[in-house]
Amino acid sequence: MKTTLANSLNPAQTADFLPLEGTDYVEFYVGNAKQAAHFYMSAFGFKALAYAGPETGVRDRASYAVRQHKLTFVLTTPLRGENPIADHIYKHGDGVKALSLRVQDATRAWEETTKRGALSYMEPQRMEDKDGEVVISGIHTYGDTVHLFIERKNYGGAFLPGYRAWSNPHFQPTDCGLLYVDHCVGNVGWNQMNKWVTFYEEVLGFKNILSFDDEDISTEYSALMSKVMSSGNGYVKFPINEPAEGKKKSQIEEYLDFYNGEGCQHVAMATNDIVHTVTELKKRGVEFLQVPTSYYDTLLDRVGSIDEDLTPLKELGILVDRDNEGYLLQLFTKPVEDRPTLFFEIIQRKGAISFGKGNFKALFEAIEREQESRGNL
Ligand code: FE2
Repeated sequence: MKTTLANSLNPAQTADFLPLEGTDYVEFYVGNAKQAAHFYMSAFGFKALAYAGPETGVRDRASYAVRQHKLTFVLTTPLRGENPIADHIYKHGDGVKALSLRVQDATRAWEETTKRGALSYMEPQRMEDKDGEVVISGIHTYGDTVHLFIERKNYGGAFLPGYRAWSNPHFQPTDCGLLYVDHCVGNVGWNQMNKWVTFYEEVLGFKNILSFDDEDISTEYSALMSKVMSSGNGYVKFPINEPAEGKKKSQIEEYLDFYNGEGCQHVAMATNDIVHTVTELKKRGVEFLQVPTSYYDTLLDRVGSIDEDLTPLKELGILVDRDNEGYLLQLFTKPVEDRPTLFFEIIQRKGAISFGKGNFKALFEAIEREQESRGNL
């Protein structure tokens, strides 16, 4: 099997029993939410948004919501040891717990998905405060990761009921031009990719828009396979990776070993000016994977003409690739924990709606070099 690109998305063709308005927020379970929130503000340019914890009547955890344009992260930590959040961190280290999706009707989203086979994580719950009401429901996906459905059309507060507005007038980092979640990638176990492809097709009504097999994405030593799942309107994309056999250990296997199971590999954040964004992030200490400078020697032969000047792209190590609709610019951070697990992608789309094989392979090779330096290849 070779790389396959399905027909362009046509919303009319999809029976949209689960209309998704996009990603509402990504929640991370972390060992120290106060410090993690500071990291996302100081390194990535997020702003303080809202806080929940003992002072707001939440007894078992502290959560900090930070925001940059339409991108909202929540950093949550347990306050005591006997707690499912503590168990999650003990098992996985810091990582993504919830990929939360904005819907008009969270009760219907839960009914439609559980009817189609999803395992319930949270029955629809109505939460109220003086700013209105929010309905939240949730289902399990791969590993210990969940999808929450967030209905907030009747809410005007800072973030969610239970939170209070939070800001620090003395610490207002300027933003880095990060706009919204472009996609979130899941790493699943051996021979599990197609199971989860079917899950996203049948339970959430997604389409498989692109596939890479182990001939596309491999080196002399290791390999992976990947399928890109997209919601009917294209607002939510969840690529799914699984390890493939090679002479040495697949980088997906390294992730599965250190995360202790399946989970979110990376969250991609969109920008309209990747040169500006990456320049800012590097200045603030964010570390990126590097490609060999030879990557740029044949770049324009591979992708054709692009609007950007090649010099800053090369200086910053930004990758360029193309699909049938246009091109895209990408760059990947190193893992943001000591475990080789979660990392971030910065992406600027110039017409492209999916992904290119060349960048996927360049990412794969860059991770493999890091993997080898960790002694895990
Ligand atoms: Fe990605």
